[in-house]
Amino acid sequence: MGLAGLPDLHDAPDESDLIDLTFQERFREKRKDENMSRKIHVFDTTLRDGEQVPGAKLNKRQKIEIAQQLAKLGVDVIEAGFPCSSPGDLRAVKAVSEQVRGPIIAGLARAVDLDIDAAWEAVREAERPRIHVFLGSSDVHLQKKLRQDRESALQMAVAAVRYAKRYCEDVEYSTEDASRTDFEYLCRIVDAVIRAGATVVNIPDTVGYAVPEEFGDLIRRLKEHVPALDKTTLSVHCHNDLGLAVSNSMAAIRNGANQVECTINGTGERAGNASLEEIVMILRTRHAMYDAHTDIRSEEIYRTSRMVSRLMNVPVQPNKAIVGSNAFAHSSGVHQDGVLKDRSTYEIMKPEDVGIRQSRIVLTARSGRAALKHRLNDLGYNLEPDQFERIHNRFLNVADRKKEIGSEDLKSIVEIELTKVPETYTFHSLQIMSGNTMVPLASVTLIKEGEEVTDAAAGNGPVDAAFACIDRIVGRTGILRDYDLKAVTMGKDALGEAMVRVEIGDAVYSGIGTSPDVIEASARAYLNAHNRSFANSH
Ligand code: KIV
Ligand code: ZN
Repeated sequence: MGLAGLPDLHDAPDESDLIDLTFQERFREKRKDENMSRKIHVFDTTLRDGEQVPGAKLNKRQKIEIAQQLAKLGVDVIEAGFPCSSPGDLRAVKAVSEQVRGPIIAGLARAVDLDIDAAWEAVREAERPRIHVFLGSSDVHLQKKLRQDRESALQMAVAAVRYAKRYCEDVEYSTEDASRTDFEYLCRIVDAVIRAGATVVNIPDTVGYAVPEEFGDLIRRLKEHVPALDKTTLSVHCHNDLGLAVSNSMAAIRNGANQVECTINGTGERAGNASLEEIVMILRTRHAMYDAHTDIRSEEIYRTSRMVSRLMNVPVQPNKAIVGSNAFAHSSGVHQDGVLKDRSTYEIMKPEDVGIRQSRIVLTARSGRAALKHRLNDLGYNLEPDQFERIHNRFLNVADRKKEIGSEDLKSIVEIELTKVPETYTFHSLQIMSGNTMVPLASVTLIKEGEEVTDAAAGNGPVDAAFACIDRIVGRTGILRDYDLKAVTMGKDALGEAMVRVEIGDAVYSGIGTSPDVIEASARAYLNAHNRSFANSH
């Protein structure tokens, strides 16, 4: 175990033997250990259940692109669609079957011949085809939806599996709404479909009603009551209506399930399906707890997540586990300091393991000195203590008004604080004519080598007019890249401080200016950037 009772996060389980090994060696040891554990098959249904999200419909080309990425990710089964649902979906599943190699390709079918014919037509060219048949099994589904009694539904299930078996060796059977199905009846169906030839039996929590203890118990009891399950793949398929899809899947794995059905980003009908990336990383991070592994190449997770989000047009919430934009971002000073000293203080996984290049230290007003120093070092600045203090003060000042301080902002701060600029032009005076019924005009006077130079220009607003006027006087055109204005003192006569970044020629220069008049502060900042460009060209 690692610190604070956590199992070894990125490390092999028995730390005492491995204490002197490098990280890479420890990681290899861990993988070796994983490979001796029980394999959990990953059945990805992003292209079928995931695609049932309103507005997320994929065309054939998009399905192929995602299926190819899923193959790279290393999923065991791709459920590519529901071929009987539309001719377009049949064509898309067929194309995936023809073009994607590696995983089993499954097509979904209701327990009727027509659906099964379409599913076979769609998957027959796959390297490893599977027909996935489903039928409701709970009383509410039988009575309200199918209007059948238990016995006739049981016969229908058996007949459907036999029919599918005529086409395909690999047939999966799903007892839809299993978690709300009478247990004795569920056992009878499972036993009967296995006898009819089902190679995989799937137990769905179709409406996301189950809770983990109960769902794990259901899987354990099924295994105890149906001995034929010993030679059959036992799958689970959990929905997230109560936010428990992943927890229920994990409880099922602990109790003997060896296939999980899931989707990328947890996308799917209503509140979605169990999230593939969460299940995979739980098994990886808490391996000792489950003694089970998947064959997923976790470094492909992030890329797959981005692709699915983009093609399905479904954004990923920032705090989504594993793949959200904040999943590995540290913004509080205390956390940043800890992570910079040793990442395991606040990171239980390495972002690189899921394909994110590095954890993001986000510089905000709450960041501490350690994080600022670290980022400055990364940018190549090696500062004396007094220089760092000046940068830190200005950083706090800017961070108060900006949500995040990026690398470009930091470079500006350093440039402004640490480089004294010789004044090729000195600011003398400014006049503005502006109003809501006229084109704003500015007249600026600058001093060069003791001589006053005055010019005038129009602009889209008073600040724009002043900038245009300065460009005319200095004979260089600047393109404003960033502009930030702040009151640095309180009250009506507050001092305004403007910070700009201006592209001049092929470089970008920072500038700062202060004045009780915000337009003058802006003009002074703009001139300051120009003076830097002159200093640079001397
Ligand atoms: O949620 C469900 O029950 C399903 C089945 C078709 C497996 O999606
Ligand atoms: Zn489902």
